[in-house]
Amino acid sequence: MKEKSSVWHPNTQMKEWETFDKISHAKGMWLFDSQGNKMLDAVASMWSNVWGHSNPQLIKAIIKQSKKLQHSSMFNLTNPPAEKLAKQLVEISPKMHKVFFSDNGSSAMEIALKIALQYWLNLGEKQKSKIITLENGYHGDTFGAMSVGYVPQFFGKFKKQLFSVTQLPVPISYRIPKGFTFHDYQHYCLDKIEKRISNDNKIAAFVMESGAQVAGGVRIYPKDFQKKISAICRKNDILLILDEIATGFGRMGSMVQYTEQKSFPDIVAYGKMLTGGYLTMAATLTNKKIYNSFLGDYNESKHLFHGHTYTGNPIAAAVSLENLKLYKKNNLIKKIQKNSRNFIKYYDEILNLEIVGDVRYKGMLMGIELVNDKKKKTPINPKKSINKIFFELGKKNGIYLRTLGNIVMLVPPLAISEKELDILIMRAIKTIKDAKIHVL
Ligand SMILES: Cc1ncc(COP(=O)(O)O)c(C=O)c1O
Repeated sequence: MKEKSSVWHPNTQMKEWETFDKISHAKGMWLFDSQGNKMLDAVASMWSNVWGHSNPQLIKAIIKQSKKLQHSSMFNLTNPPAEKLAKQLVEISPKMHKVFFSDNGSSAMEIALKIALQYWLNLGEKQKSKIITLENGYHGDTFGAMSVGYVPQFFGKFKKQLFSVTQLPVPISYRIPKGFTFHDYQHYCLDKIEKRISNDNKIAAFVMESGAQVAGGVRIYPKDFQKKISAICRKNDILLILDEIATGFGRMGSMVQYTEQKSFPDIVAYGKMLTGGYLTMAATLTNKKIYNSFLGDYNESKHLFHGHTYTGNPIAAAVSLENLKLYKKNNLIKKIQKNSRNFIKYYDEILNLEIVGDVRYKGMLMGIELVNDKKKKTPINPKKSINKIFFELGKKNGIYLRTLGNIVMLVPPLAISEKELDILIMRAIKTIKDAKIHVL
C-alpha cells in the first residue's frame, strides 16, 4: 500500500490523488520510481531540464561549489559565481546591462514589473502606471504575476485583489473568429494593440511571453507579431517586458528568443533552464536606460526595494555557469534545431488521431490540442481531470505526462537524443489513442 502524502501538491485536486509515485532516482531522460517503474520525462521536470538527469558535469559543479561557499548574502556582499554568471547572461542577451537574481520565475516577473513601474517614477513620470498584456498569457502564480497573466479559471477567485491590466488579443491560427482569414486576423490584432496603446500616455509597460504562450497551450506567435509589438512599444515610449522563462535557453530553438523575434525588450526574465533544471534560480535583466534611472543620492530613494534571502545563490550560479559551458561545448542550439525536425515526421499521424484537433511545435516544444469534435473544435471535457487520465495511461506506457487543460505537452529535456525523442513521441501517440475511450 502506498503511503498517504503529507505534501500539498501544486495545482492538484488532492481528493483525486491522495497518493503519489515516489521518484527515487533519475538518469538521462528517465525517471525511476521506488516500485521499479521507469518513465520517460516528457515534461523535462516542468520544462526545466536541459541535459537529462544525473549529468556528471553539473553534479560536479554543484559539489565543487558546495565545498567552497554554500550561500552568502548579496546584501552588502557578492560572490564569484553570481558575478561571473551575470556577466555571461549580459553577454548572451543583446542590449542588456544588469542582472537581478531571484529564485523562481514568478519572482523574476514580479521584479520586472516593479522595475518597470519604478523606472517611470524615478523619471518623475507619475502618471505612467498602466500595464498592457496579451490574452491567455502566463507569468507565474504570485499576485503580480497572476495580474499580468490573468487566466479566469485559475485566478478568478483572487480577481478583486489583483491589479488591473488591459489584455489584448493574440492571433492563433487554430481559433480564428468567423469571417477572418488568419492573415486578416493578425492585422486585426495588431491594429487593436496599436490603437489601444497609441496616444495613451499612462501606459508604463507591455508584458508578454517571448516567442509563444506556453502554459496558454503552446500558442506560437506568427512571424513578425512580436517584432511589430516591439516597434509599437518603442514608438509610443512604452517599456517592453519579455518573459523568456519557458521559451528562452533553446526551448524554441534559439538561445535568446527575442533576437530571433527581432524584438527589443527593456527587461527580460529567464528561469527554468538557467541551472540546467538542477537548482532553483531565475534572473531579471534590464538595459542601461532602465538601470541608470535607479541611480541617485541615497535620500532620493531611487533604488530598488527588492531582495530575497537566496538571491544570487553561489551553488545555483555555479551550476548555471557549467550549464552555459555545456551549451557551447555541445553546440546545443544547433542540435535542438536539427532534432526538432523529428516532430515533422509524426505531425500527420498525430493530427489524424480521432481526438486531436491541432498540433503546434517549435524547437523542443510540442502542444497537442485534444477535441471532442474536429469540426466544431470543442475541447474534450471528461468528468475526471484530463491530467490524471493522461498521467495514469502515460505511466502504463512508460512516459511521464502532465497535460495543461486539453493540451498534451511534449516538452522533453533539450538534449534528448533523436532515438529517445522517437520513443517519446511514439509513447505519447499510444497514450492519446488509449485515452480516447476515457475522454469522449
Ligand atoms: C512563461 C512563464 N513565466 C513564469 C513562470 C513561473 O515560473 P516559476 O514556476 O518558476 O515561478 C512560468 C512557469 O511555468 C512560465 O511558463
